[in-house]
Order: sequence, then structure tokens, then C-alpha cells
Amino acid sequence: MAPSSRSSNSASSAESSNAVLHIQGGARLSGQAHVSGAKNSALVLLAGALLCPQDCRLRNVPSLLDIDRMMEILATLGVKVERDGTALVMNASHISQSKAPYELVSQLRASFFIIGPLLARLGIARVPLPGGCAIGARPVDLHVRGLQAMGANVQIDRGVVHAYIPGVRKRLQGARIYLDCPSVGATETLMMAATLAEGETILENAAQEPEVVDLANFCRAMGAKIRGAGTNTIVISGVPSLHTTDYAVIPDRIEAGTFLIAGAITHSDITVSPVVPEHLTAVIAKLRTVGATVLVEAPNRLRVIGADRYRATDLKTLPYPGFPTDMQAQFMSLLALSEGNSIVIENIFENRLRHVAELSRMGADIRVEGNTAIICGVPKLSGAPVVATDLRASAALVLAGLAAEGTTTLQGLQHLDRGYDNLEWKLKQLGADLRRIHGDAEPVLTYAPV
Ligand code: EPZ
Repeated sequence: MAPSSRSSNSASSAESSNAVLHIQGGARLSGQAHVSGAKNSALVLLAGALLCPQDCRLRNVPSLLDIDRMMEILATLGVKVERDGTALVMNASHISQSKAPYELVSQLRASFFIIGPLLARLGIARVPLPGGCAIGARPVDLHVRGLQAMGANVQIDRGVVHAYIPGVRKRLQGARIYLDCPSVGATETLMMAATLAEGETILENAAQEPEVVDLANFCRAMGAKIRGAGTNTIVISGVPSLHTTDYAVIPDRIEAGTFLIAGAITHSDITVSPVVPEHLTAVIAKLRTVGATVLVEAPNRLRVIGADRYRATDLKTLPYPGFPTDMQAQFMSLLALSEGNSIVIENIFENRLRHVAELSRMGADIRVEGNTAIICGVPKLSGAPVVATDLRASAALVLAGLAAEGTTTLQGLQHLDRGYDNLEWKLKQLGADLRRIHGDAEPVLTYAPV
């Protein structure tokens, strides 16, 4: 039984940033890693619940700082949100205001997703620009231009996006929108906005990620008319209103991929479940290329059997179904220990190679040139004090620590806790030797099993 959900996010965030994770490398793992609901689906589905004037029940919601923050943001808008174990019950029948608070939005980029549903429901939305983060500038120009194409008046004034539907109709108008790049967020914002628009909206060059499909299925469960999700062209026929639903979030493919690499990098034999294997096709292919064995043991269970040695390979991140950028850092930890030279090209974000410096502190031999990392595999990594710079970098450093000789101490755990549901506890259940130490207190068990 996984530990209970986390306390209020402000306390957890402060605790996380003051804590240090001690990882004793070398342990072999065994057993089954449990995968929680997908962070990048649950967050946008929470925003999508704003489209519905009735109760919405979301199941399989992961216990994450980011989820806590999104719940807080919805609550400030007047949405009733209650957690019931791994389910959330929301009621957006009375949205009391159209402005999201800067101090909350600035902590959670994904909160920008509320702009489409707010505009569609209220005819007005004022959402602070999410701003950049460690991995890049994270612009929202495609979201803005798409909403303007649907008839919204959108201005950016002193860091706040002010959007409203002019005239008396108060409904967005269907439009044909071509996205300059297959942005996941822009696809999701515009798809949600289009569900209540007048007429048909066609999104071309749309993102095809599983989380986009999950959002489309969630909206369709509420009565939206959407077809083509999962392809590069999505067609949405607007309806006057949506209705209640009870919907389960898909498993987190990135968490699952992280566990697959945990098994490979520690030369272990573990299973990972629940998963949707086809969501991990690119990751599974790359793991097999470098020499790991990955088996589909059941429709929702994968098995990874580590090899004694790994081969180098080249990797470039691409929009789905290409290799996911959210798995790039984790896979680099494995390539750091593979025989030969590997080249990793990060094509999605402009600054997502910051984990290289920290892996180098552990003995990795990696050179960065622009958005390309040239990795010369080394026979071993050595435990060292390292600092996480962003969410997936923190996961990569945990993986490297599991494989390293000696102890790795990882700081910056607020990044890890944003996006992984009890990762340490799950790894400890597999036999990993991890201890989270808060401040200068004695080592304590991070998440006492309940
Ligand atoms: C989502 O971010 C995910 N976050 C990211 O996961 C993920 O890495 C990313 O999609 C790509 O798969 C959530 O779903 C909450 P994008 P998003 O819009 O929507 C450019 C993680 O680690 N762009 O697909 O912000 C942008 O600069 C996080 O879990 C514009 O130019 O990603 C980037 O280069 C990190 N203009 C590229 O598109 C826009 O208006 C892809 O961004 C929007 C995006």
C-alpha cells in the first residue's frame, strides 16, 4: 500500500527543498514497480474539469506537489475540489472569478491550461504568463494565437494574459488552426476551448501525445464531440455545455520509463505496472538497442531484465511518437555507463541538458555542444554530492546514484516531489537503499508505509 497522499503543498515544498536524499549505490532491485496516474494528464484534466458545470470525478490521480498546487488554483476560482484517496471530486458549477493568482500560477506552469476552459465557460479569463523555467523559455504564443483565431480578444499586459470574447455572443467561434509546432499544451488549450465553441474547430499539426488523447477522451466522456486525437489533425464540434463524468487517468508513461531504466541501470529483473506498452514504444526500442531485455508480460505490465554491459547509441528527442524529451535525462544516465560513444540531441527544449554537469561530478564523461551531448561511456560512476536542477534531471541523478559506487547525496528534492509520486518509497520497495534526511535531522524513513 503506497503511503498516504501528501500534506499541504507549501509545507511539503519547503520540506523537500531542505531535505537531502542519500542513495547507496549497487543494490540489485527485484519485484514490481507500481506506476501512478500520469502527471501530465492529471494536471490538464483538472483544468478541463472547469468546462463542466456539474460534479466531475477523476480517479488514479497521482499524489504530487503539482497536483496540490493545481487544486489550490482551482479552489481560488471557486471550484470545489476534494481528494478521496487517489480520486479527486470537483464541482465547477459556480466559478466565482476569472483571474488566477500570480503567486500560485508562477509556481506551476501547467496552471496556464485553465485559460481555455475559463474563456469557454465565462467568456473571460485573466491568467498570469507562466514564465520560463529551468529547461526553457516556455512561450505560450501558440495558445494565444489559437484563441485569437477562435474570436477571443487576447492582450498581454504586465505579465498577465487578458482574454475575453467580444460582443454579446459570449461563445468562441470554431476555426481552422495550424500549429507552428506540435505543442502539447497549445493543442490541449485549444481543444478544451473548442469543446464549447460555436461550430467546428480543426487543429492541424496537433500534438499526438497520449496525454492529449487522454484529455480528448475525458472531454468526450463529458459530452464533447472530438475526433482525431492521437493524430496530427483533431476536429472538435462545439456543443452548448458538458456534463458530469467519472474518469480514470492513464498510467504515467514517464514514471514507467524511469522504472524501466532503474531496472536496466542496476542490472536487475523487475516488472513495471500498470503501463500502456504502446505509450513507451520509443523508450522500449532504445532500451533493447543498448542491450536490455524488455518483455510485454501482460497487456498492462512490462518486464525489464538488465544486461551486464550496455552498448552506446544515438538518441534525439522528438514529439510523440518519437523519443520523449521527458525521458532524455534518465536515459543519459544509462548511456553514461554504456560502452562506446553516444550522441544525445535535445530537440524540444533549449536548455534541457543541465543534468550533464551533475552527472559529470559522478564521473560521467559528457561534453555539451549546443543542444547536443556527446557521451563517452565509463565503466563506473562514483557517488557524489549533486543538486537537481529540474524534474527529470532529479530522476536521472537518482538513477545514476542507484548504479554508482558509494553514496550519492541529492539536493533539490522539490523538483523530484513535483513530478514523482513517492518515488523513493517505490524504489525502496524494490530493494534500493535510499534515505531522505530532513535538514540536519537524523535519517528518517521518507514515507512510512500506511
Ligand atoms: C508538456 O509541456 C509537458 N508538461 C512537458 O513535461 C513535456 O516535456 C512537453 O509537453 C513536451 O512533451 C505538461 O504536460 C504539464 P510544448 P508543454 O508546448 O505543453 C514550444 C515534464 O517534465 N512552444 O509541447 O509546455 C516550446 O517552447 C514536463 O513532465 C512554443 O514555441 O510543451 C517547446 O520548445 C516538462 N509556443 C516546444 O514548443 C507555445 O505556445 C514543446 O512545448 C508552446 C510551446
